[in-house]
Amino acid sequence: MPPVKPLHVRRTRPRSRAAVRLALPLVLQDFLRTSPGRQTRLIVHTFHRWLGRRRLTLAKLTPGHLRRFLVRPQRVRVTSKTSDEYWYLLRGYLQILYDRGFIEFDPERLRRHPKRLPSLAHEFLASLAPTRRPNTCRSFVTALRRFYGWLDQRKLAPQHLTRPAIAPWFQEVHAAGLKAASRVHLLYDVRAYLRWLSERRRMRTSPDDLIRTTDFPKLPLYLPRPLTKDADRELQRRLAASEDPRAWALLLMRRTGLRIGELRGLEVGERLVLLARYQGRITAMDDSCNHAGCLLSGGWLDPRKRAVVCPCHEYCFELGTGRNVTIPRLCADQRAFPVRVEAGRVLLKLED
Ligand code: FES
Repeated sequence: MPPVKPLHVRRTRPRSRAAVRLALPLVLQDFLRTSPGRQTRLIVHTFHRWLGRRRLTLAKLTPGHLRRFLVRPQRVRVTSKTSDEYWYLLRGYLQILYDRGFIEFDPERLRRHPKRLPSLAHEFLASLAPTRRPNTCRSFVTALRRFYGWLDQRKLAPQHLTRPAIAPWFQEVHAAGLKAASRVHLLYDVRAYLRWLSERRRMRTSPDDLIRTTDFPKLPLYLPRPLTKDADRELQRRLAASEDPRAWALLLMRRTGLRIGELRGLEVGERLVLLARYQGRITAMDDSCNHAGCLLSGGWLDPRKRAVVCPCHEYCFELGTGRNVTIPRLCADQRAFPVRVEAGRVLLKLED
């Protein structure tokens, strides 16, 4: 943990250790016996002095009081970062107070993203565990904590959400400065949870109406777009004029007829074949998707998965092998064909 801004402790009058111990509430004495760190001891003592100055008892403590304490534990107001750090130090003690019935409210509920999720969310997470990787499950936990943190602040329940009610969440997530890819994951995870609730008849509104496809931010395109015709002509001219053998190799690849990142559908006899060029390699597979027959040549390349994405249901098939790399795997692999480039021509081996 980063070092915490030290609290200024003002001693008015020296008192004996025994006198100090007697003046402390029993619960605090018990807590101090667990040997918390120095900063934690200081913030806990400061907290009790703050209560004393306001003649507040623990039983009367409210979340509002606690927030005020964290913002201004002594005379000076602290920054939100310092306030978060004080909260971090104090929360263990507050949890003990709550568990022993000294305070009325559960301090966990004051976290921006509550650690405890409702039992429904746990049920959903348990249903993911057999089929998803541990990291994916963790990402769902983080997304749901964030989502429930926002819902709790507004006293909303996912079961009663409406489109106007959830719309500010999109803006908040955007304003939080998350990258587009993180926002996509967050929305995807929360929508999966809402769909799960809907399947169990726990939602009134359709989850796909609450989080629509248009709410997903556009991801930046890392693949080079196909060159324009003029740029392509100029490139070929320069490559042809070059003395560098690497330029000739590039020219050869270009003359095979495929531009970088391009997907091309061919009709070879009865068969529809997809040719794709990616990272200097030409690959071939069946163009007709084995899921429902859409043409993969109408789709696009996913650089992260090194796969072609079917435009109909967005299943991804790995370039070169045709392996279905979408989870869950709801259809078979695409048939891939060996490709050879000879003398500027693409040779495909379609039959064994
Ligand atoms: S038709 Fe290709 S994924 Fe459904």
